[in-house]
Amino acid sequence: MSLLSFAGKSILVTGGSRGIGAEVVRHLANQGARVAFTYSSRPDLAEALLKTLPGEGHLTHLMNLSDPQSIESSMKSIIKSLGSLNGLVNNAGLTRDQILLLMKQEDLDLVLNTNLRGTILVTKAALKAMLKAQSGAIVTITSVIGQTGHAGQSNYAASKAGLEAFSKSVALEVASRNIRLNCIAPGFIATEMTDALTEQQKIDIQEKIPLKKIGSTVDVAQAVAYLLSENSSYITGQTLNVNGGLFM
Ligand SMILES: NC(=O)c1ccc[n+]([C@@H]2O[C@H](COP(=O)([O-])OP(=O)(O)OC[C@H]3O[C@@H](n4cnc5c(N)ncnc54)[C@H](OP(=O)(O)O)[C@@H]3O)[C@@H](O)[C@H]2O)c1
Repeated sequence: MSLLSFAGKSILVTGGSRGIGAEVVRHLANQGARVAFTYSSRPDLAEALLKTLPGEGHLTHLMNLSDPQSIESSMKSIIKSLGSLNGLVNNAGLTRDQILLLMKQEDLDLVLNTNLRGTILVTKAALKAMLKAQSGAIVTITSVIGQTGHAGQSNYAASKAGLEAFSKSVALEVASRNIRLNCIAPGFIATEMTDALTEQQKIDIQEKIPLKKIGSTVDVAQAVAYLLSENSSYITGQTLNVNGGLFM
């Protein structure tokens, strides 16, 4: 694993309590960043992770991405505690799968309000802090599903495709202020979600992936670190696919 230095940088990760977000938090803290990360329902996991992080000044905060007031108050508190914000990782997201004809309005609203509107509001609040510093990098976790579509996930696919279009638009708005926005679109990544699959389901999925394996949270965390770092300083408005070749 190649290491990048984030010494002196403050980075916010949404949904850092478990899964991909927790790996991103660990990865950035290991490389010297001061990390703030949010949780929505598992303060126990967030507190446990916080205790294991190397370095000082890390913090965790409640934020419900489906609630604009929760976002506003959390962002104010987090930015005040950090003092400055150099990076943002829009990772938090959820699914409520159902074919469209049977989808409840509440599940449509929850997925769009959390994944799309919530991420937009977090980004807006973060940008205000980054504009003051005249620099910043924002990485948004989308999904291969937003690129290919998937039966039973039309709400989720729409939210993730929307985030890519959003990210490109804002990248154009703030490029002159030295702020970059990029997306990472993971394919199948081993998390609690994929733990629930049977061995046969995992074999079937792997067969469809050109690199013949399910990705790890570390694969995504390394890509996030790259797009946050100065090593990617000429890259903005792009999507990096971390999917084993599943979609090209
Ligand atoms: N795993 C995959 O294969 C895969 C593939 C493509 C894209 N992705 C994307 O990668 C991101 C992380 O996925 P994951 O598999 O690591 O998910 P996960 O294990 O389900 O973790 C989701 C994280 O988001 C937080 N969260 C959930 N609902 C929230 C809400 N309403 N407000 C604020 N935070 C909320 C959770 O906090 P609490 O634990 O406190 O509830 C948790 O930290 C998501 O955006 C997902 O769409 C994942």
